[in-house]
Amino acid sequence: MTRMDAKSRINRLRKELADHNHAYYLLDSPTISDYEFDKLLEELIVLEKSHPEFFDVNSPSQRVGGGVNKSFDTVAHKRPMLSLGNTYSEEDLRDFDKRVQKIITEPYTYVCELKYDGVSISLHYKDGVLKQALTRGDGTQGDDVTSNVRTIKSIPLKLQGNPPEEFEIRGEIFMPHKGFEEMNTERIESGFDAFANPRNAASGTLKLQDSKVVASRPLDCFLYHSLGALIKIDSHYKRLEEARSWGFKIPTDTQTCGTINDVIEFVKYWETTREELPYDIDGIVIKVDSILQQEELGYTAKSPRWAISYKFKAEQVVTTLDKITYQVGRTGAITPVANLEPVQLAGTIVKRASLHNADQIAKLDVREGDTVYVEKGGEIIPKIVGVVVKERDLFSQPVTYITHCPECHSELVRKEGEAQHYCLNEKACPPQIKGKIEHFISRKAMNIDGLGSETIDLFFKEGLINNVAELYFLKKEDILPLERMAEKSAAKAISSIEMSKKIPFERVLYALGIRYVGVTVAKKLAYHYQNLANLQSTDLEDLIRVDEIGGRIAESVVSWFKEEDNLALLERLKEAGVQLEIDASVLVGRTHILQGQSFVISGVFANHSRDELKKLIEQNGGKNTSSISKKTSYLVAGENMGPSKREKADKLDVSIISEDEFIALLK
Ligand code: IVH
Repeated sequence: MTRMDAKSRINRLRKELADHNHAYYLLDSPTISDYEFDKLLEELIVLEKSHPEFFDVNSPSQRVGGGVNKSFDTVAHKRPMLSLGNTYSEEDLRDFDKRVQKIITEPYTYVCELKYDGVSISLHYKDGVLKQALTRGDGTQGDDVTSNVRTIKSIPLKLQGNPPEEFEIRGEIFMPHKGFEEMNTERIESGFDAFANPRNAASGTLKLQDSKVVASRPLDCFLYHSLGALIKIDSHYKRLEEARSWGFKIPTDTQTCGTINDVIEFVKYWETTREELPYDIDGIVIKVDSILQQEELGYTAKSPRWAISYKFKAEQVVTTLDKITYQVGRTGAITPVANLEPVQLAGTIVKRASLHNADQIAKLDVREGDTVYVEKGGEIIPKIVGVVVKERDLFSQPVTYITHCPECHSELVRKEGEAQHYCLNEKACPPQIKGKIEHFISRKAMNIDGLGSETIDLFFKEGLINNVAELYFLKKEDILPLERMAEKSAAKAISSIEMSKKIPFERVLYALGIRYVGVTVAKKLAYHYQNLANLQSTDLEDLIRVDEIGGRIAESVVSWFKEEDNLALLERLKEAGVQLEIDASVLVGRTHILQGQSFVISGVFANHSRDELKKLIEQNGGKNTSSISKKTSYLVAGENMGPSKREKADKLDVSIISEDEFIALLK
């Protein structure tokens, strides 16, 4: 293929992939299969790799992220990002309308929108491409989170149609329920704390340093405010419709309302219907539609006079707490659960609420038999927010937290600094054994879809399996006699176990369920160490040198490999033929040339972007860091590097090299 052929193919692929993305993430009507999409993307990545001169940050290939940001630049907003005044009742809304009427003498219309419960974002576009994404910050200045925002598939990197040369659009980044729940399940399984609600998850994700991790999180974005003098349309609603035609995800649940009565009707409708939405909203935003009238109304110091928010009350009910029970997770973590008198709350019947840990129980002083307030606010899992003390039984006793595991009766331990109690009997405590096997077969791990948690339960009860390796030695004759095991399901179970032997090493590593080794960490470790033997023989110091691996993860990995039982398990997995080394094809372009060396990149470079240089360091086994220390091997200096960096490097005797010298290191 000639250079020009490659260029035109690259452009075709970029356009095609962007269109498919738009159809999938905005229109919700995919135009090709995931497989075909991946094939096209792969073709693009290969072509871009062999033609780095055509690099474009806005290429669909860049959606996977990669750059590591140790800190985000603070940038002043061109126009302040204000907040909204709140209202809580019909009366408040009528008062708002009266204030508008006083100033606007001509007829006016309102636009009612859902109030998305996420993180606000300001996007800047120039010449049809995304230039900058800023968080709200303190309203006058925010963080530049562009590299993270680029990974959100519903945010267009290149616009369609005829957008103005330069403009700003604002909206809300949020995490839909389904993705939030999946992500939390995985976090809990990997030993991380779950996010309390989708809003926290969205804001935590947006501030992550590694955009690749951001890319793996299910963020989405609605845009609700199009700004800029260049846009001539005098209607907020129509401006958004126009922005939709440029490729933005504009909410479709928006409605224009001629009177405040219509507004109130809209509010009431969503007060009861919001539970059906696949994401959280915490109210309704009411805006005067005409931009000229908005200007006439103006602003107070904090918020516009042309808009107001109506906040939903967090729904609360009162019920009886019958009993506190305790659940044991895969890692041995104990979670106390409040078993409630079933009660209707926000569209569902609630029977259980999490009590989190011993401290939470003590803080609420909640007791069995108490009448409790249960609330469902932003959180999906209902929580107990208080006790109706005056209804408490005279003889009620404070809760004495359990000291022994409810399942295996071994003594519980609470390590310093941890909120949770743990059962350490991981080898013999049934829910821990079953939990580990369930994690092993799960979709993101070995994907053994012929088995489910009920079958695992059955196999375990019948004494057929006691650990994950034993799955591979099951025969159809062993499981066929079991209750509810027909010929077809037995055959499916065995064949899906067999198929999992092809699952790549990085997923096997995740499937082992080592604490803190989630999907991303497993991948990092698998690429770095390439096979199980290397990983097994490494030590704490070496692990910490791997990019993104901190002390907590390193300690967990080292201690996992110290356990005799785990080593025996690995032997059996090896015998079974499970993949315990990386597939060589994924390592193309990856080397160890820079292993053990750490780099600081600073300034602007002639031939590579900073992200590209960081990627090269990572691909070749080096470590990216943001600040110079004694441990820094090289400071790669470009133009406009601040003098303080040079001074610090000189003081600590760190070698300063140019872009060309860095490239020479790779040869
Ligand atoms: S309009 C000056 N519209 O609510 C106008 N905000 O309390 C400012 N929000 O910071 C925003 N959904 O993060 C607007 N449809 C919507 C919204 C919305 C959610 C958030 C936004 C803002 C906060 C204001």
